[in-house]
Amino acid sequence: MNAATQSVIEQVGTRSVSSIRADFPILHQQVNGHPLVYLDNAASSQHPQVVIDAISQYYQKNHANIHRGVHTLSQRATDQFEGAREEVRRFINAGCSKEVIFTRGTTEAINLVAESFLRPRLQPGDEILISALEHHANIVPWQHVCQHTGAVLKVIPITQAGEVDFTAFESLIGPRTKLLALAHVSNALGTVVPVENFIAAARKAGVPVLLDGAQAIPHSVVDVQKLDCDFYCFSAHKLCGPTGIGVLYGREALLQAMPPWQGGGDMILTVSFEKTTYNQLPWKFEAGTPHIAGAIGLGAALRYLNSLGMQNIAAYEQQLLAYATRQLSKVEGLRIIGTAPHKAAVVSFVTKNIHPHDLGTILDTEGVAIRTGHHCAMPVMSFYGIPATARASFAFYNTFAEIDRLVAALHHAQNVMG
Ligand code: ALA
Repeated sequence: MNAATQSVIEQVGTRSVSSIRADFPILHQQVNGHPLVYLDNAASSQHPQVVIDAISQYYQKNHANIHRGVHTLSQRATDQFEGAREEVRRFINAGCSKEVIFTRGTTEAINLVAESFLRPRLQPGDEILISALEHHANIVPWQHVCQHTGAVLKVIPITQAGEVDFTAFESLIGPRTKLLALAHVSNALGTVVPVENFIAAARKAGVPVLLDGAQAIPHSVVDVQKLDCDFYCFSAHKLCGPTGIGVLYGREALLQAMPPWQGGGDMILTVSFEKTTYNQLPWKFEAGTPHIAGAIGLGAALRYLNSLGMQNIAAYEQQLLAYATRQLSKVEGLRIIGTAPHKAAVVSFVTKNIHPHDLGTILDTEGVAIRTGHHCAMPVMSFYGIPATARASFAFYNTFAEIDRLVAALHHAQNVMG
């Protein structure tokens, strides 16, 4: 049975998915002679018209540099930029907007914590704890600080299903652990890590926690106060916002104690050749002219997502995930990689006799966009003994019929490759 032959209600809260799709101009095009099926949302999601309009309006009417001008355009731009920060604060329920630092994305946010928070606190032999399912962005910055300080990177193993082994974690965390840095959701496997349990244990041990939320925040309600994490990092472009802008949430007391990471304009109060004094939070960490339009676009994206309701988005995406898992499991020779009981709407898989790159290329000829490769998570691939996977990742604007198109394209690829 496929989506066309069963009665499927495609609804996100009070809105039909077909009306939501009308908000996304990019979805309505032919690719290689077929209607586009965009299933690469974990790499980057698409933009509703309201986000495109907010960015375009800013450039058409309000652009100027922020925090620097007494003139009207500068004040408008500043108000919009700081308004976006407040939207972010509300979206993640941070205690105050000082705790919301704009960065270029998740990667820069993690690097900021590595260099400004952790590096000055590390002694040789200290330990940083991550898991085996991390994205390279949550591995390499820690390796850098280890190289410079003599600290040691410890890795919590994962199970065959792709879950982070909590028992192993309990044996690894100890008096030398100076930070626990964990993905909230695995980009390669879709696993939702039960971070609450890890955070509770880390709290007991007095270990600060950073969460890489890049793949979690598009699919769930994130409340940083409820999570009780110290740092939470995410990117706008996976949230229907622009590329080149992201967020570091940090607990105010920790951010206050951290030295600036990059120096330049806007992060200072006074400069002389003898001494520089630094700006207050959050600007202390925002050197140089920021991505003003990006922040405004992110604010518009968050308002749009709020209008749908993150809980509604999560509920609908779980239906897509269940259907995709069921239908893909029926494809002969296909093996799903990452079978944790609690997953976000991401399905990684390999097929017998077809390399994921070939599969992705053939699917593209059918208008179906998926990601293939190691997904910036090479240790995950090594764990499963595979070079790469094909990955379909869903957003709330995807449909059941698109999953049928994916499955049909997979059959086509199997026919082509014999
Ligand atoms: N980290 C992004 C992904 O998972 C690019 O595809």
